[in-house]
Amino acid sequence: MGSLGFVFKIVVVGDGAVGKTSLIKQWTEGTFRTDYIMTIGSNFAVKSLSIEDKPIKLQIWDLAGQPHFSDVRVLFYKGAMGAMYVFDVSRADSFENVDNWHGELSNICGDIPSVLLANKVDLNDQRKVTREMGNALAKKLGGIPYYETSAKTGTSVNEAFERIAQMVFEWAKKKQG
Ligand code: GTP
Repeated sequence: MGSLGFVFKIVVVGDGAVGKTSLIKQWTEGTFRTDYIMTIGSNFAVKSLSIEDKPIKLQIWDLAGQPHFSDVRVLFYKGAMGAMYVFDVSRADSFENVDNWHGELSNICGDIPSVLLANKVDLNDQRKVTREMGNALAKKLGGIPYYETSAKTGTSVNEAFERIAQMVFEWAKKKQG
């Protein structure tokens, strides 16, 4: 562990419009926008935190969820140390596609620390994916942590990002020996 601490690259993946950009904005800036600005290619944000008194920089890559950007996505998976899979609880198709995202990412990155996020839980009356379904998927993906989040209200957003940071920290420590 060098004196400069760690930089961790985390990728946030999932279908278009599930709330990836919004989750990152909520965590890094504490803001939320209701208009939808489609990500083109990728964005990234950086946030510093400390784990066990070590300075950590999380570099969070937000990959466009639209299929026609798939060539760009492959480049951006490279070097990822952690993954956040996101679906929208009001859209069953976004839930079903998590498996495809997982397949695509693990082809390139192998088995990296990951969490599953069921986003938009504030849209209670439009909910199509239950907590049981989310938990079952998290189990299927290797028993990864599962969070029900809202980028709008902030529900569980900090917890999810802090958890992936902690998981990558442990993983990096183990790799360093
Ligand atoms: P791509 O860039 O196309 O991959 O989309 P994205 O996954 O980054 O989604 P984005 O964050 O742009 O959000 C899409 C839309 O959903 C926007 O209109 C957001 O305001 C809305 N949204 C995101 N998160 C939430 C949430 O937790 N609750 C509600 N009600 N709306 C949300």
